[in-house]
Amino acid sequence: MSLPARVQIVEVGPRDGLQNEPATQPVPTDVKLELIARLAAAGLTRIEATAFVSARRVPQMADHEALLRALPRRAGVRYSVLTPNLAGFEAALAAGAQEVAVFGAASESFSQKNIHCSIAESLQRFEQVTQAARGAGVPVRGYVSCALGCPYEGAVAPAAVAHVAGALHDLGCYEISLGDTIGVGTARAALAMLEACARRVPLERLAGHFHDTYGQALANVYAALQLGVTVFDASVAGLGGCPYAPGASGNLATEDLLYMLDGLGIETGVRLDALLRADRYICEALSRPTRSRVALARQSAGV
Ligand code: HMG
Ligand code: MG
Repeated sequence: MSLPARVQIVEVGPRDGLQNEPATQPVPTDVKLELIARLAAAGLTRIEATAFVSARRVPQMADHEALLRALPRRAGVRYSVLTPNLAGFEAALAAGAQEVAVFGAASESFSQKNIHCSIAESLQRFEQVTQAARGAGVPVRGYVSCALGCPYEGAVAPAAVAHVAGALHDLGCYEISLGDTIGVGTARAALAMLEACARRVPLERLAGHFHDTYGQALANVYAALQLGVTVFDASVAGLGGCPYAPGASGNLATEDLLYMLDGLGIETGVRLDALLRADRYICEALSRPTRSRVALARQSAGV
């Protein structure tokens, strides 16, 4: 069995994690900034910081402009922000965005619920973003949600995921993150989906984004590693979910991903002890327990 020697972790907690906190308890911008600083200090070099989306739809991301302007600049650390349309991209660029991400879906119902348009319409919006981004020299990442199942339609065909992934790649997205938005996938389904996408997009441009609702995220990462995928999204403390995917839990906890990668001898540049301190910081700030198994085990062992 051959596994990659090195993996990049994309930390999505400040966006995918915090977007799902109750609107009645806005997470202060200063808390987000401190979390991001701690994540960068732990060695994470790719951090998704916020989303330029409707404040009415996702209230926790309403401070996107102030947050982006105040991000701690640190050598080697890249921050990305979600930009679903040209208006979002222009606002992000004006606030100093250096990298953005567009997010589509492999299911029509989820596309309508999440971004209020069909898949075909979303690709037209994304083309406007990628064109403007090319002009501004800003790299664009692409997401495909519902890659292993849809909360409204159920099973999603690998070919449908590959179609959207291929379209995003054709638009110029440098990397396509395949999202198991509701965390229902198992390793065999993940492999079939990744193989379908890899027939359309070079494997080295694919990333895995696994939510952990059914406790399958690590198994899915392991299957993807065996195929040769080298980029995985994760969320500190397992924070999050998706406001338009009822019942979905957070992403795979970054600490749990790191623990497995460390154990496999796969290089990431991230330090577990510092990451656990970031976990403790955000869980105390939100007054909630961590969802990281590693953090919980360390806490009960008193270390
Ligand atoms: P729209 O098509 O204009 O229509 O927005 P709308 O009715 O949905 O929203 C209209 C309001 O949004 C108007 O303001 C617009 O001005 C405003 P209002 O009249 O209500 O005051 N608006 C914007 N505001 C800020 N930034 C913008 C923007 N564009 C319009 N860029 C839009 C389309 C996508 C913006 C909207 O539907 C929206 O914000 N949806 C929320 C999408 C979202 O953030 N979902 C969660 C993230 S996706 C996710 O978690 C999945 C992922 O993690 C991968 C995975 O797990 O699978 C990425
Ligand atoms: Mg997600």
